[in-house]
Amino acid sequence: MTNPRPLLLIVDDEQGILDVVSRFAERAGFDVLTCAGGRAAIALIQTRRPDLVMVDLRMPEIGGLDILRAIRDVDAHCQAVLMTGYASVDTAVEAVKLGAMDYLSKPLDFGRLDQLLAGVREEIDRRRSVLSMEGDLAKRLEFHGMIGRGPRMQDLFGMIRRLAPHVRLALVTGETGTGKELVARALHQTGPRRERRFVTVNCSAVVETLFESELFGHVRGAFTGATDHKTGLFELADEGTLFLDEIGELPPSVQAKLLRVLECGEVHRVGSLEARKVNVHVIAATNRDLKAEVAAGRFRSDLYYRLNIVEVKLPTLRDRREDIPYLTAAFVRETSERLQKPVLGLTPGAERLLAAGQWEGNVRELRNVIERACILVDGDSISERELAVTMPDVLAAPPARPGHTAAAPAAEDKDLLVTVEREHIQRALVRAGGNKKAAAKMLGLSRRALYRRLERLDLSATITRRRDAPLMAHAS
Ligand SMILES: Nc1ncnc2c1ncn2[C@@H]1O[C@H](COP(=O)(O)OP(=O)(O)OP(=O)(O)O)[C@@H](O)[C@H]1O
Ligand SMILES: [Mg+2]
Repeated sequence: MTNPRPLLLIVDDEQGILDVVSRFAERAGFDVLTCAGGRAAIALIQTRRPDLVMVDLRMPEIGGLDILRAIRDVDAHCQAVLMTGYASVDTAVEAVKLGAMDYLSKPLDFGRLDQLLAGVREEIDRRRSVLSMEGDLAKRLEFHGMIGRGPRMQDLFGMIRRLAPHVRLALVTGETGTGKELVARALHQTGPRRERRFVTVNCSAVVETLFESELFGHVRGAFTGATDHKTGLFELADEGTLFLDEIGELPPSVQAKLLRVLECGEVHRVGSLEARKVNVHVIAATNRDLKAEVAAGRFRSDLYYRLNIVEVKLPTLRDRREDIPYLTAAFVRETSERLQKPVLGLTPGAERLLAAGQWEGNVRELRNVIERACILVDGDSISERELAVTMPDVLAAPPARPGHTAAAPAAEDKDLLVTVEREHIQRALVRAGGNKKAAAKMLGLSRRALYRRLERLDLSATITRRRDAPLMAHAS
């Protein structure tokens, strides 16, 4: 299915510019409207809702910056590009503040115009495909409540599918909020025991002295306060699955007993000598580095080696940024339904901000940010404004790092706008640890578009990927 052609509005008082830009835009797959004056342009933006507006900075009645302001107020989804023969850093900065995605200096460089149109076209198509991911299609791409269209998650879903029919014991690892519990449930639901119980115990929430009795049960009189028999969670999960969440928190004494149960398939209720057979699949999860815990003497190595035969490792959100738009769209949908509030999505600027965020807390944090933004927002789109309130830490700009800051503009630099652009791109590259794909995402460009710019700005040679660099620079 091909997308309908996006609509471009060109605003310029020079007929020559209208003609030439139209020609390029039609070739790039846009439908085109042109307009010679600012006032008429604002009316057209309101009635025709273009996807992109290219606007001249200086026009007789209303200037380009005023049009940018109007766009921001009328339709936050509309992208804007400023065209100017009077380049100055101040205007460029002002334009970016007003939400312009780019600027072109006059006389127009046709190569650049072509690249820009192709880049915007790609971006619009991508956004549309995310937004149209409603209902069925989205459901089919989900895996037991997990969203992940990028290769890492698709591989992980495949692995779960392959493992689930066979595993009796699995370890799920990953940072907090990456979706370990969802993976544990998916393993259960795709496996042969899906009709049976899935019993969860969060090891960090159990009082140390009660662990044994929780897991294995006790008989009356086994200890003070044991006034009755108690069935342990292993017995409760018999024929089903027991999910031992946060297994890194298990006290050493219980670790030994757990290992025995895993080895012989029998439990002893506390206070009883009688062994009871249990047939339980065990899935354990942890956000700790169990190997390091073993090295530090806090986790039994024999239990560790037993558990990690089948390990499912979850990637962090930083390592699968390509999924951010899809996760975001799903969370917006979910939250707007729950709140009964017609929030449709994010503005392009807000999407770019999210893509550039420093995600320490992974999917859970993204979900929280979106939920709070949905609560705050007045209109139907979440903009940078709501994000700035809901994710100050995530958006914290990295400090300029000595040695990695952009070179000071040479005094003779004719085109200051180029300097601004170069610095902007360099900053993104530094933040992305040199990863061009990630930098392109932050900048809201396709990778191809970024490469073209790097060439044009003579940056391709100077910036190479630094593998040791963190994905994001952190304040220290
Ligand atoms: N792939 C995903 N698609 C959609 N939602 C997800 C995905 N991964 C995680 N979530 C959501 O993020 C939140 C955290 O997920 P979950 O509780 O599974 O993480 P966790 O790894 O167990 O975290 P913790 O270590 O803190 O226990 C939940 O609200 C979950 O629904
Ligand atoms: Mg969890």
